[in-house]
Parts: sequence; C-alpha cells; structure tokens
Amino acid sequence: MNADKITPSVSGVSAVEIARDAALAAGEILLDRFHQSKQVSFKGRGNIVTDVDMLVEQQILATLSEQFPAIGLLGEESPGTKPDKGLVWVVDPIDGTRNYVSGVPFYSVVIGLAFDGEPLCGVTYDPVRGEMFHAERGKGAFLNGNKLEVSEKTLLSDSIIGTELSNNAEGARSSLDVVRNIWPNMQTVRIMGSAALAICYVAAGRTDIFFHHQLGPWDQIAGLLLVEEAGGLATDRTGKRAQLFSDGLIAANHTLHKLFLRATEGLSWRLAT
Ligand code: IPD
Ligand code: CA
Ligand code: CA
Repeated sequence: MNADKITPSVSGVSAVEIARDAALAAGEILLDRFHQSKQVSFKGRGNIVTDVDMLVEQQILATLSEQFPAIGLLGEESPGTKPDKGLVWVVDPIDGTRNYVSGVPFYSVVIGLAFDGEPLCGVTYDPVRGEMFHAERGKGAFLNGNKLEVSEKTLLSDSIIGTELSNNAEGARSSLDVVRNIWPNMQTVRIMGSAALAICYVAAGRTDIFFHHQLGPWDQIAGLLLVEEAGGLATDRTGKRAQLFSDGLIAANHTLHKLFLRATEGLSWRLAT
C-alpha cells in the first residue's frame, strides 16, 4: 500500500498535511510550557512522563480522530490500537522528555500513519529549531520542504555515529560496548536525547549512522520512512529490514550499514534482546 491509498480526511486535506499541522500546534504548546513547571512522574528508571506529554497527546489524538474517524489510534501515553494490522495513527507527543524536563532544548513531536505495521507517512517536528521532517512512502523525505539524502560517506572512520542510552540498563551497556569496539575508528559519537530526531539526522546526512537497542513504534514510525526515502537503509540488529516492532535499529547509507554490521559482528548488542 502506498500513501495515495490512505482514506481521505473529513476536511479533504492529505494525511501528511494533517499530521504536519497537528505537530505544529503541539510544538507551540511544548515551547510555551518549556520553561514552566511541569508535573513529572516516572514510568521507570530514567523514563519520564509529564502533564505536557498527556495534554499534547490528547490534542493530537483528538485532531486525528476528528479528521479520520475510521482509523485506529495509538499514543505512547494512552492505550490504543496495536499498529500491526490495517491503518493506525501512531503518536509520540514528546520524544526526549528527559531533555524537555531538564531544560535541554532538543526534543520532538512524532506523528505517523502505519498500514499493517509499515510506515506510510510521518512527521517528526523539532519546535525549538522550527524543523519539520516529513516523508510519504514513494514520495521522498524532506526537511521544511527541501529534499533529503543520507550522507555519502563510505568509511566508518569518517562517520558520526548516533545512539541513545535509553532506560534499559543492559541495552545501554551493550550499546556502549559497540561504541568502545569501534572507537577510535570513527569521528565521534552523539547521544542527543531524542531518538526520533536523531534518526532524522541520518536521513538529513547530518550524522552517518544511528543505532538503538530497542525503540517503540512511536519513536521510529517517521524516522524509518525518512531514512528509506532519503536513500538509506533501516534494519533491525540482524540486518533485516526494520518495521515498527523490530528488535534494535541500525540506520545508515548502504555502505556504512554493511561496515557497521561487520564491525559489530559477535558483540552482545547484535544478539536478540
Ligand atoms: C525515548 C527517547 C530516547 C530513547 C528511548 C525513548 P521518550 O523516548 O527517544 O532517546 O533512547 O528509548 O523511550 O520517552 O523521550 O518519548
Ligand atoms: Ca519516545
Ligand atoms: Ca514520549
């Protein structure tokens, strides 16, 4: 199924435009509340949710259900339809809540539409920089309307490698092992605090490789599509094409992807979690 087959919205506006407008509206709330106090609770070690996550998610889901009453909804903070069958909207109201709560200006809003677990269209919006990443299957990947391509680097030693430590202690340890094993055969490592945005940076050619030990569908729905539409490869930890529920993520151009697989062969990160 490609993006042309998506049920039309009530207003007649395309799915990706509805997602983009909803992300822009969400971004305004995030910026307004950024320096104000928030109600913070912990879902686990380092895994935070705030009243702003809840508010923004409710607003996005309300817009989507009003515009697409027949399509299922899944938000990170609300129980919803598992996006493995049929059309389902998937939403992360704040990716990078740890940054958001601490006043670190690097976080994003993610809204994407999946069909049978495959991303069809999606946006990742960075309100701080006013950067809207969007992609539709078969139509390319864009940043503020400008077409994106993954980097053309062909050597690990020229590459910037992104990852996240996340909130899974073992996963983080094995990710650090990957870094230690490749080091110093790389330029540097970036741990920026929003996996969703970090994947878009690979699509934009700003960084060269991103790997993560375990993401949720809301973290990666837009990024997987952006990387593929920007000419890159997004796979699970074994090298199989990534889907919303894949185990582990490696995103890069085709050459660096192959080199990363070779450089990490035999490491615990490459084994199923
Ligand atoms: C988290 C961020 C983080 C990643 C975690 C995610 P959240 O999402 O994307 O970079 O490492 O695995 O859970 O909690 O900020 O929406
Ligand atoms: Ca997230
Ligand atoms: Ca979140």
